[in-house]
Amino acid sequence: METGAHLLYFGDNAEGLRQLEQEQRLVDLVYIDPPYGTGDEFRIDENRANSISASGVPAYSDRTKGEEYLTALEERLFDIRMVMADHASIYVHIDVKMEHRVRVLMDSIFGTQNFRNSICRVKCNPKNFDRYGYGNIRDTILFYSKSPNRITWNPQLTPLSNEQLVRLYAKVDKEGRRFTTTPLHAPGNTENGPTGQEWRGLPPPPGRHWRYTPDKLDELEAAGRIHWSRTGNPRKIRYADEIEGALPQDVWEYKDPQNPVYPTEKNADMLAQIIKTSSNPGDTVLDCYAGSGGTLLQAASLGRNFIGMDNSPASLAVMTRRFKEASLDYKLVQLRELTGTETTTVTATA
Ligand SMILES: C[S@@+](CC[C@H](N)C(=O)[O-])C[C@H]1O[C@@H](n2cnc3c(N)ncnc32)[C@H](O)[C@@H]1O
Repeated sequence: METGAHLLYFGDNAEGLRQLEQEQRLVDLVYIDPPYGTGDEFRIDENRANSISASGVPAYSDRTKGEEYLTALEERLFDIRMVMADHASIYVHIDVKMEHRVRVLMDSIFGTQNFRNSICRVKCNPKNFDRYGYGNIRDTILFYSKSPNRITWNPQLTPLSNEQLVRLYAKVDKEGRRFTTTPLHAPGNTENGPTGQEWRGLPPPPGRHWRYTPDKLDELEAAGRIHWSRTGNPRKIRYADEIEGALPQDVWEYKDPQNPVYPTEKNADMLAQIIKTSSNPGDTVLDCYAGSGGTLLQAASLGRNFIGMDNSPASLAVMTRRFKEASLDYKLVQLRELTGTETTTVTATA
């Protein structure tokens, strides 16, 4: 797909995904935030979006629950996998009540070997509701790849603060360079290989093997990269001035907008982080539960193509307005017609 060839499907994503498959279009990254089977009805009212108010027009229904909900999601996940390129990744956003059920589905469709992370996302400030239980301020993003190797991976390193540098790189050498040390051995016995042998008269500790062959350990020693403790324990030196930054861990704090333009609208910076990490410019990003179109807008602004899908007239209205404001060219593929009432919804929210 050439850059700028953005596609927006209005209608059931089952049909949209089938079309992609028939046209043999492959995507490089998938982010989805499907309904969570909450039993709620989400509404939208003059750009205020919530699930509590009875006013406004319906945005989307999350009434399907239990096994019916899981079966529908399983079918979509299966279809999504079919349109993913071999190097593609998928991020599935889900709440704490459903995460374990959806993870079982993901394991069976994508394979446990392709599980990458279960990301704990801090989504809001603490709320002091009275309840028999701790407050819930997080949800989950399940991250899987299509294949175990060669996935697109551009980790977004964050620079370390001075306080972190001093804490994490506490030792200073004769030249004044801050450093820390890491073990030279790893878990697991190597029965016959060179990493199981003695190095400089030292066997690896019981149940472990050297991380490097004896030749490589000699090289590290000659390059001054091995620090010997007072008890004669060798460790590898890592200098602070050679570190590009810290790899993001699997707890993310990206709170959702206080005044969303669409119910359950997700944090734009979080979406940008996912897109930058797991795709390259010119790639195609799929969000087939697009809602407010946040994923699609971030993808376009980062030089990716997008394929968006949603079957809600309110979502279509919000996306149409936002794409126009962003002067985005896209092709609308209408999989279903709007009824008379829905046309009113689109006009009211656009
Ligand atoms: C949780 S919302 C997504 C919110 C979105 N992540 C955002 O940031 O705005 C789920 C969306 O999925 C859409 N949806 C649910 N079932 C669908 C289906 N079968 N086909 C297409 N869209 C669907 C709903 O209309 C709703 O807009």
